[in-house]
Amino acid sequence: MYKEIENWYEPVDSLSKFNSVTEMTRWESGFLCGLLKKFRPHKILEVGVAGGGTSVIIRKALEMLGLDDSMHYSGDLSEKYYRKRDEGLVTGFQYDVACERNLISEGNHKLYIGNYLPEYIEDIGGEIDFVILDTVHSAPGELLDLLVVLPYLSETAIIVFHDLATDHQNHYRQTVSINKCLFDSLDGEKYFNICGNDIDRDMLYGYSDIGGVVISNRENCIRDLFSMFGLPWAYMPSDKELDIYRKKYACFYDAKYIEMFDLIVKVQRHTWKHNSLEGKRRLITEFKRKISEKKIYLFGNGKRGRKLYHFIEMIGGHIEGWCVSDEYKTEKQENGLPVYTLQELGTLKEEKLIIVATTFLNIIDDIENSGIEYYIPNPFIINQSSLYDNL
Ligand SMILES: C[S@@+](CC[C@H](N)C(=O)[O-])C[C@H]1O[C@@H](n2cnc3c(N)ncnc32)[C@H](O)[C@@H]1O
Repeated sequence: MYKEIENWYEPVDSLSKFNSVTEMTRWESGFLCGLLKKFRPHKILEVGVAGGGTSVIIRKALEMLGLDDSMHYSGDLSEKYYRKRDEGLVTGFQYDVACERNLISEGNHKLYIGNYLPEYIEDIGGEIDFVILDTVHSAPGELLDLLVVLPYLSETAIIVFHDLATDHQNHYRQTVSINKCLFDSLDGEKYFNICGNDIDRDMLYGYSDIGGVVISNRENCIRDLFSMFGLPWAYMPSDKELDIYRKKYACFYDAKYIEMFDLIVKVQRHTWKHNSLEGKRRLITEFKRKISEKKIYLFGNGKRGRKLYHFIEMIGGHIEGWCVSDEYKTEKQENGLPVYTLQELGTLKEEKLIIVATTFLNIIDDIENSGIEYYIPNPFIINQSSLYDNL
């Protein structure tokens, strides 16, 4: 069914003391390194860098494999490290830190930040034989970049997709992983491990979050990839972004594909406009209804909880109190409201509803086991509450 790869942990574990933040788990990084070991690439392209933790691991693997001549290109749209924009960290900063600490040598590495892939792919050139797509995970997302990179691939190139299982791991997601769609739809040899006991955090029942494809019939794939733009888009790229991608596609693909692209963009604009007005209005109305029926307690008094608190107050709702895990129990009030544990909350004789403001799956299990009714807000609501971040 799939080709399996023996995970290669040496590069990952040799960096375990380095305080790096890769968005791949040890298992996933081990899988990635296993692919690097098998394919021994000469030209690697990584799109989606974040802090640069994965770039460091790739570099370490190349060193251990003696692939000193291999070129390693990384690209990211954001100049600032997207998870900590306020802290002045630049995207990929961990690569420099790892070099300064002599954990890796600089190698043939080039980082492109602040641009879309079509704007720098020509600089990288052809015969790319190893690609990692790890950016948005929601349509159109990585589909835009896959069609850009296809003409630059070597015959035997492997494309690695991360976050195939993200829709199951992150319960605030509402969209389908575009990487999962791409991995499944491409015709070719697929690398994906059906795991036994060798599993780690985030992995549900050993279901892997990462896989690779060596495309076997590129011509057929092109038609289906353009058609895949017709999936509902989770966000509407700017006119500028769409224009940059369209111009690049027009350099390589037949006019009939460009016509299809134009048609689908029109359809997406229509749907997006409709969704953004009616659909979102409906989501807020539904949330307001939910918080008006019972006594409301917010589970989690971290950043997300505080944002939701302000949002609920702003839309006319009322919070009775906070609920936290036992270890966070405090006698102090927060925002003038009492803080309960699940057990304490269970003893209150009233119709109540917990609004969940935590992302930890084990905590949601605890809430479920408590028997108290709970509600996980829609990602759009969470997004809205971000507007109240600084209150
Ligand atoms: C999931 S993180 C990447 C994680 C990284 N591969 C790792 O393993 O540590 C996603 C990154 O994609 C970047 N990104 C989002 N859209 C992008 C695009 N169109 N092109 C390039 N990078 C993009 C974000 O700025 C962010 O740094």
